[in-house]
Amino acid sequence: MSWDQVWIDVNIASMDPSLSVPYGEILNAAMAIKEGKIAWIGPRSELPEFDVMSTPLYRGKGGWITPGLIDAHTHLIFAGNRANEFEQRLQGASYEEIARNGGGIIATVNACREASEAELFELGRIRLNALAKEGVTTVEIKSGYGLDTETELKILRVARELGKHHHVDVKTTFLGAHAIPPEYKDNIEAYVDLVINEMLPAVIKENLADAVDVFCENIAFSVEQSKQILTAAQNAGLDVKLHAEQLSNLGGAAMAAKLGAKSVDHIEYLDEAGVKALSKSSTCATLLPGAFYFLRETQMPPIDLLRKHKVPMVLASDYNPGSSPLCSSLLMLNMGCTLFRLTPEEALAGMTRNAAKALGIEDKVGMLATGMQADFCLWDITTPAQLSYSYGVGVCLEVVKNGQVVHQ
Ligand code: NIG
Ligand code: FE
Repeated sequence: MSWDQVWIDVNIASMDPSLSVPYGEILNAAMAIKEGKIAWIGPRSELPEFDVMSTPLYRGKGGWITPGLIDAHTHLIFAGNRANEFEQRLQGASYEEIARNGGGIIATVNACREASEAELFELGRIRLNALAKEGVTTVEIKSGYGLDTETELKILRVARELGKHHHVDVKTTFLGAHAIPPEYKDNIEAYVDLVINEMLPAVIKENLADAVDVFCENIAFSVEQSKQILTAAQNAGLDVKLHAEQLSNLGGAAMAAKLGAKSVDHIEYLDEAGVKALSKSSTCATLLPGAFYFLRETQMPPIDLLRKHKVPMVLASDYNPGSSPLCSSLLMLNMGCTLFRLTPEEALAGMTRNAAKALGIEDKVGMLATGMQADFCLWDITTPAQLSYSYGVGVCLEVVKNGQVVHQ
């Protein structure tokens, strides 16, 4: 056998469901890499013979390998911060009140309109490094803090550039309909028209987005307006997804599921009819415990119903300055378990296999099996549950991206 790299002295949480064991685990495993892909994976005792003299051998020191983590929902390109609103909320103001009074998303929009591409790039790079240190190898980044054509394009360009200059793969999402810009507060339809007929064509022309998202909520866009935008995106060949049922149950998730959306995200207020609509489609349910925690939400997403109806659950950071200023994948694994009562295995699936599905890249990444991309992490842990159990001690020993060991 001629391979580029062989790993031994490891256990592997492959997350491959066809192995029919928890975490798709392979104890005392070995894995061989060739041309950026997994060429062989299995118990070390079955590892075929290979040329030990010419093949670099990596020893996992008895730790665990998992697929590289995937953060499938972030807003990580923004300028400024909203610590002042954090203070206001601690003095009693609600997230909705702050948004209605011109703060919230609009405050970040103003900062982003001012910022240069270079500034946004540097801020984004620092945040991407933070996620990468915790094992993230693929991230989704949304626009949505521009709300005018120029700034939306600027944010998406920065996201694309980050992907070119960083080992982490970046999937971009156009979220022009993230909030109603003050200029359009009395004419929302005109803004929807701008999103569909000016912004979207410009985004497509420069190939700046892989998907389109909308914030469907009382303080943002209605189900009907969201549907118009998502339909226009689909007609242009883009994937769609939706911020849905975060603060109330409007029925956006069911609408998005019928369109074949990749995911519906937040969904604290989703009811059983909505969950059933998801189960009839291939739409994933993206859970965002960072926003739940930071906004001190008390309505739990319908985890038991999602389990009952076998809807794939995704876990993501929603990293953003307003509702989840928490730039950490490992904290989300912990919060997925502590706040939403996911099992550690469900949490890890939510940041690997199911996250890949939500981004439409499940044929390449999200689990470790022959032919999959060699994106994986080596962790200094004795059992996979330790990834979500403990937080704050550095446990990520190595990251391998496309078969290359990343030094960070
Ligand atoms: O995903 N829900 C809408 N958008 C963000 C919040 C953005 C902000 O407050 O800046 C979210 O939680
Ligand atoms: Fe979000």
